[in-house]
Amino acid sequence: MNSYLTDFSCTRCGESIAIAQALYTCPRCGGNLDARYDYAGIARDIDPAGIVANPDRSVWRYAPLLPMPSPIPSERTNAASALAYHPLSTLGASPLYCATSMARTLNIRAVWLKDDSRLPSSSFKDRASAMVIARALRIGAHTICAASTGNAASSLATLCAGTGIETVIFVPRSTPEGKLAQIRIHGARVYAVEGSYDDAFELALQAAREFGWHNRNTGFNPYTREGKKTAAFEICEQLARQRAHDAMRSKASAASSPYSPVFRAPDVVIVPVGDGNIISGLHKGFKDLLAVGWIEHMPRFIGVTATLAPALYRAWQSGSETIVAAPASTIASGISADLPRDGVMALRAVRETGGVFVEADDEEMLDAMGVLGREAAVFVEPACAAAYVGLVKACRMGAIRSDDEVVLQLTGSGLKDVKSALRVSAGRLIHIQARIEDVREDFRF
Ligand SMILES: Cc1ncc(COP(=O)(O)O)c(C=O)c1O
Ligand SMILES: [Zn+2]
Repeated sequence: MNSYLTDFSCTRCGESIAIAQALYTCPRCGGNLDARYDYAGIARDIDPAGIVANPDRSVWRYAPLLPMPSPIPSERTNAASALAYHPLSTLGASPLYCATSMARTLNIRAVWLKDDSRLPSSSFKDRASAMVIARALRIGAHTICAASTGNAASSLATLCAGTGIETVIFVPRSTPEGKLAQIRIHGARVYAVEGSYDDAFELALQAAREFGWHNRNTGFNPYTREGKKTAAFEICEQLARQRAHDAMRSKASAASSPYSPVFRAPDVVIVPVGDGNIISGLHKGFKDLLAVGWIEHMPRFIGVTATLAPALYRAWQSGSETIVAAPASTIASGISADLPRDGVMALRAVRETGGVFVEADDEEMLDAMGVLGREAAVFVEPACAAAYVGLVKACRMGAIRSDDEVVLQLTGSGLKDVKSALRVSAGRLIHIQARIEDVREDFRF
């Protein structure tokens, strides 16, 4: 399938950068780059119904809106390829759960949970890694490096395994053990850097330059945002399917909208924010669908930052796009960034859609892990639980209305940070001897 990628534009100076020159940031001013597509061509040539009818449920079926085609030879053309059944080939199609009791408690129309903890490395970051690896394979890179708070790295290590690409990782020393174990089990070389994520970020930039490695650093590599936007495509597809299903059951017409019934946007999307690349990726996905006319409105974005990682929230409050680095010290490793690397695009995602930023403190995130675990059957890490804190606070602030349909983007599994999970007040752990009397005693029969 053709790619409709035309060029990249600089998010800071607006310069157009040719595809071949768009390796990382703007050669003129250093700003992050944003991919552009021939939207008129896509609207003319592509039937969205064909995309959703594709039996391949991976992100690669959105090829017209991606900068890279699938790196995987199709099963039919090359079943013997090492990549034919690789996790890269099936990546995507994470579940969208309906959190009915949450919606009822908060008195809103619907709450959906887009559960990306179910991707191959158990985090949202697989979407970005896949797109970066596809390009790395295309340009013949033999090593990819990345700075990470843990998930981007474990994702890169997972998805590079078996591709022949070596992985070099730079993480802060404080990275949770579960994430470190994942990175190591897949054979990556891991540098645990004495310092913050931001120190690791700078070191990865230097090392990539010196050793000629391809660099996956979030935001800095423009393909990360392009991979992340696939979650928006899936959300709209899943919501349309749910509407069609409900309509079939109630025998009403599912096609009352003049727009394509195969994609449907929610009213609000809530996203935990560290570097700001996930929220900007989701925003990009909805912008793409609007540009080709496959959805009829843009959702409002609610970004949730950690109180103990205040740089972006301060920029939001100041009303400017100037982001001043501030030391981060939250337990939520995924959103612990001193200087958000895609912060400008995160601010735009919220401001351009009429949304808000809210803050979540560490205790609130731990409590939210418990609520999500008990009420919604999902086990998430603290950074991810921030989305639920954002939901509750936004309802209280009046930023969410009772007729809104809300999607919470879940971004990482609780198994990655068991130490934090054990701090949550949850089901009881009772040590006993192997005697029924001990159980009776506990139950006070
Ligand atoms: C679990 C989790 N949630 C949210 C985020 C935030 O994503 P971003 O840094 O793109 O804002 C991360 C980033 O590492 C993460 O690991
Ligand atoms: Zn520029």
